[in-house]
Amino acid sequence: MNKLLLVFLQLVFVLNFGTAQTNDEAALRKRIIKGIADYRSELVNNTYANLEAYIKATLEKSGNDYDETLKIVKNLSLKELRKKYSNKNIYENFRKYKLGKKSIFSTFSPLEMKIVEENLDLFGLVFQQILKPDFPYGINPKTDFLAEVLFIGINDGDKIADLGAGSGEIAFLWSIIFKDLELYMTEIGEIQLEVMNFKSKKIKSIDTSNTIQILKGTKKRTGLEGKNLDKIIARLSFHHFKKKKAMLASIKKSLKADGELILIESEPSFLHERKMGCKKAMFQHEIESILKKNGFTLIDSERVDQGILLKYKIAN
Ligand SMILES: C[S@@+](CC[C@H](N)C(=O)[O-])C[C@H]1O[C@@H](n2cnc3c(N)ncnc32)[C@H](O)[C@@H]1O
Repeated sequence: MNKLLLVFLQLVFVLNFGTAQTNDEAALRKRIIKGIADYRSELVNNTYANLEAYIKATLEKSGNDYDETLKIVKNLSLKELRKKYSNKNIYENFRKYKLGKKSIFSTFSPLEMKIVEENLDLFGLVFQQILKPDFPYGINPKTDFLAEVLFIGINDGDKIADLGAGSGEIAFLWSIIFKDLELYMTEIGEIQLEVMNFKSKKIKSIDTSNTIQILKGTKKRTGLEGKNLDKIIARLSFHHFKKKKAMLASIKKSLKADGELILIESEPSFLHERKMGCKKAMFQHEIESILKKNGFTLIDSERVDQGILLKYKIAN
């Protein structure tokens, strides 16, 4: 009798716990989708408001049909570009184009280039495979972004850093989804810093509750020592760190005692199959071995379609 009661109580506990988790996760999923949708709408609205004004001004001179031109603009597909150049840095190429150097945009007309310029933020989200590549750039149902955010486990009010933030779209999305963050985005690349600063102006009109700082990184240091961060995230950047040992020591000094380091990486085999990505990519066992040697304990890991998610705490 007692045994039966115990089993029954355990079952009730498991079921309740399961439901509570599912509800929390469902709420967070909704929040993430809303965040992406808000960002996308802001970018699309801005883009087309700007483009319409530009096209009107241009057409007044040329006498071409406005509606027809707007149709071309809206139908400009990023799909081909995405397929062909998925491993290229879109911003670096944009800069090269501006400087009159050879780039992936060499064959683009001035109107197409204007579209690209106005769409740089959207481009970023398409290249990250978060949005679909055609107008009106809906959310890509296959994106890994949701799984990544659920894994990272950001809370409102957290102090977090994105090390090697690239062109920033991922961390900017976190800042739209979560409130009252103290968010640091570091980069070693000059172009990436330029692009992040450019984009951050648009972000400020959507996201008003967070403090965002974009900082120049260095090879050996986060530059965030003593900040007592809740989480440090390095997305596709750990394998790029040239001085991993020194950087991991600096990460320890930047995290609070029970803070977490989250690495998001893609293994070489996957990258090879898809003919994209980075030649420096590392296998999971290589990453795990470096982290262990440098005083970090693995507390969680997950595989998603496109990568490896690893969560560490500082070893005791
Ligand atoms: C493949 S990109 C990933 C960018 C971004 N996290 C993403 O997921 O799209 C790697 C980035 O790490 C940056 N990086 C490399 N070493 C760095 C360092 N020591 N500190 C800061 N950024 C670094 C590079 O400049 C590059 O932009």
